[in-house]
Amino acid sequence: MENEEQIVVSMPRIGDPAPEFKAITTQGEINFPSDFKGEWVILFSHPADFTPVCTSEFMTFATMEEKFNNANCKLVGLSIDGLYSHIAWLRTIKEKIEYKGMKDVEVNFPLIEDIKMDVAKKYGMIQPNEDTTKAVRAVFFIDPKGIIRTIIYYPLSLGRNFEELYRVIIALQAADEFGIATPADWQPGDDVIIGPAGSCSAAKGRMDDSELDCKDWFFCTKKLDKDTVLNKVLKKK
Ligand code: BEZ
Repeated sequence: MENEEQIVVSMPRIGDPAPEFKAITTQGEINFPSDFKGEWVILFSHPADFTPVCTSEFMTFATMEEKFNNANCKLVGLSIDGLYSHIAWLRTIKEKIEYKGMKDVEVNFPLIEDIKMDVAKKYGMIQPNEDTTKAVRAVFFIDPKGIIRTIIYYPLSLGRNFEELYRVIIALQAADEFGIATPADWQPGDDVIIGPAGSCSAAKGRMDDSELDCKDWFFCTKKLDKDTVLNKVLKKK
């Protein structure tokens, strides 16, 4: 082990401030997360430019960018490639690639160059037993105060579900706005969960509350209609 270079992997956690960095991107220099203060941001990594799964992901994310922006969410990508590779790949996507009805797709969100893996290492995007030089497919959801609120990791071979990423950004904001939690597979319009009761009297109060649907004292839901959620979360419908 003496002569082998060890990759130091740090893994930010949910609730931590997003690690700060300055980086060159396809949209100019960024200071992260300060440039995104006041907005939600998804920071995501992909293994490499000019690879097929990544290409399908970028086309999908770019096609959905307006939808994410409308939910107060900016997108920032990263791979362990240089700026000119990024530019060439994004130009190729726009000029040549047609996939699942998407074509002429322009990627307008910033793509970070991270040849030295400085950012990838800070965010635990290099997972050496998966690959020592390619980032895994990490997704960090960062709130308007720069706090990491959700982290999802996928391996190199598995393309992400972007509708799920959108569901997460809406659910996080709904939880903040309405002080609720969201059950399995929640979508706007579905009933929401009231957090666990913290005392015997709160438990009793819940069972007596006609606005709640309590399966038992510890499992209560309530109605939260779709328009109420989306009117709060989306800039325009
Ligand atoms: C891809 O994006 O196609 C890919 C990248 C690295 C390993 C496997 C697939």
